[in-house]
Amino acid sequence: MTLTPGELLSGSMLILLLVASTSELSLSPEEANQFLRRHRRANQVFEETKQGHLERECVEEQCSKEEAREVFENDPETIILVGTTKRQEQCKYPVYLRYSKSAVPVTDLHINIDSREDPGRRIPVGGSRSEDPGRRIPDYFYPKYLACWEKFASKKKEDLVTCVHNIPDQCSPNPCHHIGTVRCEDKKGEFHCHCFTGWTGLRCEKDVDECSKENGNCDHECRNSVGSYHCSCNKGYWRSDRHHCVDVDECVDVLGVCGSAECRNLIGSYECLCGVGYVYNNETKTCDDVDECESPVCEEQCVNTPGSFRCYCDGRQGKKLGPDLSSCERIKPCLELNMRRNARSLYLGRMFSGVPVVKLRFRRLIQTGFTAEFDLRTYDTEGVIFFAGGHLNSSWIVLAIHHGKLELQLKYGAVSRVTSSGPVVNDGQWHKISVEEQGRSLVIKIDKEAVMKIAVNGDLFTLRKGIHELNLTVGGVPFKEDGLLNKVNPRLDACMKEWHWLTDEDTSIQETILHNERMQCFSIEDHGSFFPGHGFAYFNHSHGDTQVLSVQLTVRPASTSGVLFALVRQDTVPLSISITDYHSGTKQWAEYILVSFGNVIVASAAVQLCDWETHTVNVTVSGNSSRLEVDGQLGLTESVENVEPVDLLSSYSTFIGGLPDVSLVSTPVSAFFTGCLDVTVNGRQLDMDEAQHKHNDVRSHACPLVGPHQ
Ligand SMILES: *[C@@H]1O[C@H](CO)[C@@H](O)[C@H](O)[C@H]1NC(C)=O
Ligand SMILES: *[C@@H]1O[C@H](CO)[C@@H](O)[C@H](O)[C@H]1NC(C)=O
Ligand SMILES: *[C@@H]1O[C@H](CO)[C@@H](O)[C@H](O)[C@H]1NC(C)=O
Ligand SMILES: *[C@@H]1O[C@H](CO)[C@@H](O)[C@H](O)[C@H]1NC(C)=O
Ligand SMILES: *[C@@H]1O[C@H](CO)[C@@H](O)[C@H](O)[C@H]1NC(C)=O
Ligand SMILES: *[C@@H]1O[C@H](CO)[C@@H](O)[C@H](O)[C@H]1NC(C)=O
Repeated sequence: MTLTPGELLSGSMLILLLVASTSELSLSPEEANQFLRRHRRANQVFEETKQGHLERECVEEQCSKEEAREVFENDPETIILVGTTKRQEQCKYPVYLRYSKSAVPVTDLHINIDSREDPGRRIPVGGSRSEDPGRRIPDYFYPKYLACWEKFASKKKEDLVTCVHNIPDQCSPNPCHHIGTVRCEDKKGEFHCHCFTGWTGLRCEKDVDECSKENGNCDHECRNSVGSYHCSCNKGYWRSDRHHCVDVDECVDVLGVCGSAECRNLIGSYECLCGVGYVYNNETKTCDDVDECESPVCEEQCVNTPGSFRCYCDGRQGKKLGPDLSSCERIKPCLELNMRRNARSLYLGRMFSGVPVVKLRFRRLIQTGFTAEFDLRTYDTEGVIFFAGGHLNSSWIVLAIHHGKLELQLKYGAVSRVTSSGPVVNDGQWHKISVEEQGRSLVIKIDKEAVMKIAVNGDLFTLRKGIHELNLTVGGVPFKEDGLLNKVNPRLDACMKEWHWLTDEDTSIQETILHNERMQCFSIEDHGSFFPGHGFAYFNHSHGDTQVLSVQLTVRPASTSGVLFALVRQDTVPLSISITDYHSGTKQWAEYILVSFGNVIVASAAVQLCDWETHTVNVTVSGNSSRLEVDGQLGLTESVENVEPVDLLSSYSTFIGGLPDVSLVSTPVSAFFTGCLDVTVNGRQLDMDEAQHKHNDVRSHACPLVGPHQ
């Protein structure tokens, strides 16, 4: 028990009032404590007596206020302070201060003055005792006593006794904080408030801040509250008990937390994962395709695909995709072509337009017969070897190849004749051919064997101003081809050497050829069309009124990238058959034959093609299905969805060996083909001489590529 100097002071103020000027109280806290301890022991005996008094006086009958005061104010719970006046000689006796200590306001202070000589005699100086109502001190015990009486007097006596007995109870009224206290313990003169956990202070009125010590043992956050505290967990955790936080597995506990994406739990969090090329969209909870083409990922053209992208290189510029799948590199030949040329030979197929490659004019003062001799080598079945004579309406002859044999068309004024005879000459072998005017007939010999002898009745020379004149063209006719007697495609892919026209020694043609390599033939040739890697041929006719397209290709490639066959409509390539060294669908590097609808690969076959051998590629297309066979081996049909079927009945152009200026991304391969190629569509072999157009360097019937053994 402690009394603050303030309390003592207020006590002493009252005493001064009561004892007037006779004494002055001065009491140090130590003195007060000492006294109180002593006094309490001394009072034990007195308590017994008081009990008797109580029974007798105030339970049997209702005590008056005065009587009750006598009884209760003797009670040991009152605190008697004692001090000595400084001027004791004046006062004669010490001053006892009686202070009833409870959880009562200071106004409930009772002060008595006792004489030391007569301790039993208390002189109550409390306001209630005072006759002076102006200095009244409010009652403390008496109203309680009256309440007991009122409640229990008419009932059980024991209850009344208990009630009255409890009047001086220090816990009544309860001095403890009503929320923070378990119970109040009356300690006879003092009280002890037993606090609930979380409360402290004399009256359990102070909240304990549990969080200030070791975070209240909370794993994460501790929040103090009145009389308690609360642990809470960070986002992504749940509270497993009062203090502990455990990671939430959002992937399991939160339904659809990542939507269609893959969920991965993290400590305190989670993440939504998408495959390569996709990015998670936290609003739609889906994996969205990344448009890789927005950044410069490809050297040339980029096409975004779901989850990925594809780079395209311009094959028409001789480029193909490099090993990094992004840069472009030069297409290099995989086989060395034997491009050696014979400088003393004349290549007749140079002009696709069909105009002659050589034009000669002969003028003679005297009349001579017509003679011509040359060596010829060809695989071509049709074309003009030479024309000799005047103009369309005068006399002329045309020596042609038709159906592989020699054909002579002649016109002498009104007389026209077409004669064909002899063996097949388009066997790729050299044949010495001669045409000679003998008397009134023309004799044609193959390898010195006469195969034709045709009677003529005129002169091929035209006499003009005394000069005999003759025009001679090689590899074409000097007029429109429809002027021929028998329709022949004048384009002839043939090689000529050792020529003698009219027995003249010709040097001017030799000179020209020597300086123009393109007029020369390849030294060695084989049958098949030759594609040089920078040109194509195209046809605009359809391949019949059928929804089935069957394409047979015999191919000897000299590079591993190129278009063999393609159907083109405007900027689209509905069907293509090509060679590549990279399969963009399976991402495999190998030599492939691909069949594609647009830029979707529908069939493929991995075949070693660059091996000097001739390979057969058979492709059958019908609607959305395709079948690929390479050298008799069935290719792989790729399972592709939503592929646009090829409408074979609509109009398109057929491109062989390359593509026109369509968009790079319309088909997987855009490079020109290099090598030998024969194409048969629906059983009909395509003759490049019949093309709507062909690059002059595309050789329609002979190919320089030969095996290493030759
Ligand atoms: C989605 O992610 C963005 C960027 O990380 C963020 O700013 C936004 O608040 C997120 N939205 C939702 C709905 O989570
Ligand atoms: C030979 O051809 C030229 C032009 O190509 C023509 O002018 C000339 O008349 C022709 N000669 C004869 C005899 O018809
Ligand atoms: C050839 O004869 C036809 C009619 O017979 C005529 O129209 C044409 O002009 C003639 N051509 C020449 C070059 O004389
Ligand atoms: C092929 O082209 C020619 C000339 O351009 C044209 O006259 C012809 O009609 C075309 N044929 C087809 C089948 O498109
Ligand atoms: C390819 O097709 C043609 C004609 O349809 C056929 O004659 C040939 O035997 C086929 N070749 C292969 C290797 O299947
Ligand atoms: C292919 O065509 C057939 C018949 O036209 C159709 O039933 C099928 O669904 C098509 N397949 C694809 C992958 O488009």
